[in-house]
Amino acid sequence: MLMNETITDSKITSVPCPNCGEALPKDAKTCPNCGVDLLLMTLLTERSYLDGLPGAAPISAAPETLIPRIGDYLLDHGLITEEQLESAVEQQKLLAENKDHRLLGQTLIEMDYIDAETLDLAINLQIIELHTALREANRTLEQRVEERTVELKSALERLSEANQIKANLISNISHELRTPLAHIKGYVELIRDEDLGVLTDDQKDAIHVMQRSTLRLESLIDDLIEFSTAARGGITLNIEPVNITDLTKSVLSQSLKKADKGEVKLKIALEEHLPNLNADPARLEWVLYQLVDNGIKFTPSGGEVIVGAKLEGETIKVFVADTGIGIPPDRIEEAFIPFHQLDGSATRRHGGTGLGLALVKLILESHVSELNIESFKEKGSLISFTLPIVPENE
Ligand SMILES: Nc1ncnc2c1ncn2[C@@H]1O[C@H](COP(=O)(O)OP(=O)(O)OP(=O)(O)O)[C@@H](O)[C@H]1O
Ligand SMILES: [Mg+2]
Repeated sequence: MLMNETITDSKITSVPCPNCGEALPKDAKTCPNCGVDLLLMTLLTERSYLDGLPGAAPISAAPETLIPRIGDYLLDHGLITEEQLESAVEQQKLLAENKDHRLLGQTLIEMDYIDAETLDLAINLQIIELHTALREANRTLEQRVEERTVELKSALERLSEANQIKANLISNISHELRTPLAHIKGYVELIRDEDLGVLTDDQKDAIHVMQRSTLRLESLIDDLIEFSTAARGGITLNIEPVNITDLTKSVLSQSLKKADKGEVKLKIALEEHLPNLNADPARLEWVLYQLVDNGIKFTPSGGEVIVGAKLEGETIKVFVADTGIGIPPDRIEEAFIPFHQLDGSATRRHGGTGLGLALVKLILESHVSELNIESFKEKGSLISFTLPIVPENE
């Protein structure tokens, strides 16, 4: 039998533990220093031989695949010949067909191609190689994680730069649009008031349409400016005590016309004697208006939108519920993407720019609050947020 020098060296009486490197007696089953189960690791290595056998359990991409299989290992180290390996594998297959599964090492011993001691040593050395290979794999993995972290950080920086540029662009364009729009609005009002001459009924109708469109454009530009300011973290709040009951009623009266047009019922569900809450009243009114506006817009005729508020500890929970088309739960996050509508098709039935909820979210965040959406497709939505009440002694 061909013997590899290192393995057959009779002076070798111990091998290092694959886990802690402690010198082990060559017949040790566990490491006395770190307690690693050498038998288990040996089995792990030997298992790779069953791989090629019919009916063998599939072996996942485990660390043992990092080093050669025992047969190749013994061959590479000149401990068996190629013919011996082939006939042992053949024998193993024959036995396996009779449901007698043997490890390759065992078969090699039984066929007298190798003795148990040499095989033990070979397996121990292979375990050490496995351990080294594992260490190397971990080191490469750590290095890769570090590289990816750096790449992600730089991508994030580039993204926030791009966002900043986008916010600046939106802000500049919106301000530029405001000036000509102010002129258009002024002249439309002059014409409407007949300061520039008497109008026919058809002209009055046309001017009426122009004026409505001008107002829509103005409110869109205001939203864009507000959004770009908020996106740059520039919202300044005027926090003061707000009576949520009055504010809700005001929002509902502004929304009544739209609700009537869409044949949607508006209902109010306010708890009695609610204390004031701390918020920026103008922005809170805008937030509530947007939520009610969405509720009406996305509720088919015959449905209803309920706006309410209730005390919850030291906070007030404000909510808007509707019986509309709902948002599929897995698409809720999408609803907050600026300029994005869930139905983005050219044939979509609902108007809007997809800015409302993105801005609502930013405004609530600046109030250290957040928007909760519970919604199910075709079942309606319940949208809510909480704000702190004014402490009693204030
Ligand atoms: N109550 C709701 N029911 C169903 N879908 C909703 C509701 N509220 C929002 N959505 C979905 O979320 C998307 C984003 O809402 P958002 O208010 O931001 O935009 P919008 O209403 O389409 O346009 P804008 O508010 O700018 O006029 C909507 O287009 C819609 O698809
Ligand atoms: Mg909206």
